[in-house]
Amino acid sequence: ALRRAGNIHWQHVDVDQAARARSKGQRPRCVWFTGLSGAGKSAIANLVDKHLHALGYHTFILDGDNVRHGLNKDLGFTDEDRVENIRRVAEVARLMTEAGLIVLVSFISPFLAERRMARELFAADEFVEVHVDTPLAVAEQRDVKGLYAKARAGQLRNFTGIDSPYEVPESAELTLDTVNASAEALAQRVIDYLLE
Ligand code: PPS
Repeated sequence: ALRRAGNIHWQHVDVDQAARARSKGQRPRCVWFTGLSGAGKSAIANLVDKHLHALGYHTFILDGDNVRHGLNKDLGFTDEDRVENIRRVAEVARLMTEAGLIVLVSFISPFLAERRMARELFAADEFVEVHVDTPLAVAEQRDVKGLYAKARAGQLRNFTGIDSPYEVPESAELTLDTVNASAEALAQRVIDYLLE
């Protein structure tokens, strides 16, 4: 990769991130939701998106299920593919914050190292890691997509929490307990954090 990048130079552009953000009247952010399949990442991100949009903020959602239909449709669920999935998404999120947006990223993103790599692409206060902390037993009980049942039956390999690891965040700005609070209340916590 280094060799390939060798003859490629960084092209300077005159309109910088601060200028783009000023024209949007908002502070760009990457809000990174991580958690097990079925934890509630997409539901909460969607509520945050809806409320911020209604308040006039320019937001965008990057969601695992959707991005895997397009940009990342060549990737599966081996460790290697998940690493590449997250790398690409982090870079896309970075482009979006450079464009001045508030990006809501909703991926299982199971590995500490890749979440750290994602964080390092952003300024310190620009990256907000949100752990959607739903116990495996609860996510499995809900099993909205029926995937846990398939994984338990051996019809789906490398399923997060079953036969593929989820490394619990150590440095999340927010930890959301979905067992004892509603998605609405949790979305409001995220919004309060972002607007404080
Ligand atoms: S990752 O780990 O960040 O690369 O995963 P992500 O891109 O977020 O994709 C997770 C969604 O893909 C579906 N799915 C699986 N999840 C986990 N493990 C396996 N093996 C798997 N196969 C398919 C599942 O619907 C996930 O959606 P969410 O919304 O997280 O439940």
